[in-house]
Amino acid sequence: MTRAVWMLADRRTADAAKRKLDRREIGAQAGLGLLAALVAGGGLLWAVTAAHSGAVSAGDLTMFVDAVAAVQGGLATLARDTARCHHALLLLDHYLEVTTAGPDLQVRARPRPLPGLRQGIELRNVWFRYSDQHPWILRGLDLRIPRGSALALVGLNGAGKSTLVKLLCRFYDPTRGQILWDGVDIRDVDAGELRRRIGAVFQDYMSYDMSASENIGLGDLDALHDRARIEAAAARAGVHDTLAGLPHGYDTLLTRLFFMESDKQDPATGVVLSGGQWQRLAIARAFVRDRRELMILDEPSSGLDAAAEHEIHTCLARHRGGRTSLLISHRLGAVRDADVIVVLRGGRIVERGDHHALLAAAGEYARLFHLQASRYQADTPAS
Ligand SMILES: Nc1ncnc2c1ncn2[C@@H]1O[C@H](COP(=O)(O)OP(=O)(O)OP(=O)(O)O)[C@@H](O)[C@H]1O
Ligand SMILES: [Mg+2]
Repeated sequence: MTRAVWMLADRRTADAAKRKLDRREIGAQAGLGLLAALVAGGGLLWAVTAAHSGAVSAGDLTMFVDAVAAVQGGLATLARDTARCHHALLLLDHYLEVTTAGPDLQVRARPRPLPGLRQGIELRNVWFRYSDQHPWILRGLDLRIPRGSALALVGLNGAGKSTLVKLLCRFYDPTRGQILWDGVDIRDVDAGELRRRIGAVFQDYMSYDMSASENIGLGDLDALHDRARIEAAAARAGVHDTLAGLPHGYDTLLTRLFFMESDKQDPATGVVLSGGQWQRLAIARAFVRDRRELMILDEPSSGLDAAAEHEIHTCLARHRGGRTSLLISHRLGAVRDADVIVVLRGGRIVERGDHHALLAAAGEYARLFHLQASRYQADTPAS
């Protein structure tokens, strides 16, 4: 709700600035237009009078009219180009602001080397809010993900699950507390180095206006031109047949952004994938980052049909095997095999344990699990 109010306020400020600019542009153009019309009108009057009295010939008059039209056209172009130039300079300001901005995160002058993960990742009393004006999202989390184990994170919308993922990838630093990678605070290591050790499917994954193979290869730039690796990742994510069947196979553009309206009808120019197909592509992008030490999966199957979801989770479980992983899902059937399931509510851990322990505890997890299970069972013949 608050975010919507802020967005609305930002939108209004931007619209007001745009209106002010438009008004100035219209004012300048109207002024110049009026001046040009006065000069041209006066000149024409003089020329017609002079032609009437025989001071100028009909040819002179035609040339004069042409010259006036050319000058008017030139002035209009000048006004338009000046306005465009003004727009471009405003954008350049934004560009300079972005390119000269300092780092969002504190960067150590001498980052510590990041050891290969041996023991695990630990969150120690982690508190987080997006800024001093925002409410606390994580409130004192203590959590361990031992190396080689699968941790699942569940909780209602807005509980802070994806926020925790952002902290693990170091898109933000904890406001208080520490995240330790084998005892080393991730604030002390190079963020790029940390991220190279992580493979992730984000809840709000990107879809790039590029070809299918590039969309997968961007997961690991070393694989960008390695078609065999890209196809293997796509096959594991169950999207190989779809991509191979496109008009130009893996080289088909997955966008119609760059084409004229008439070309958009032609599927060979670019293809629009469905939401579930994009999600499989995002999973393939993570699979191409093979052999990473930590695998993060934030709602990897939310857009998939039931059969695809089952297939993907079986594949992910196989892929996770022996690797440290964090899985977030609202479908509790998908997380039941995790070594530890953690329930997050209001930024706090309210329950933790494996599936059976949590069911036996008859708390929040058990309530949600039975709720979901009953929805499926309600219409079965046995019931
Ligand atoms: N960039 C941001 N700036 C400010 N607030 C944010 C930002 N991103 C998320 N939030 C807020 O943080 C809270 C937790 O969001 P988060 O995305 O971590 O929840 P979640 O548990 O992943 O929810 P879901 O199940 O819907 O994916 C929400 O109240 C959200 O509005
Ligand atoms: Mg989320």
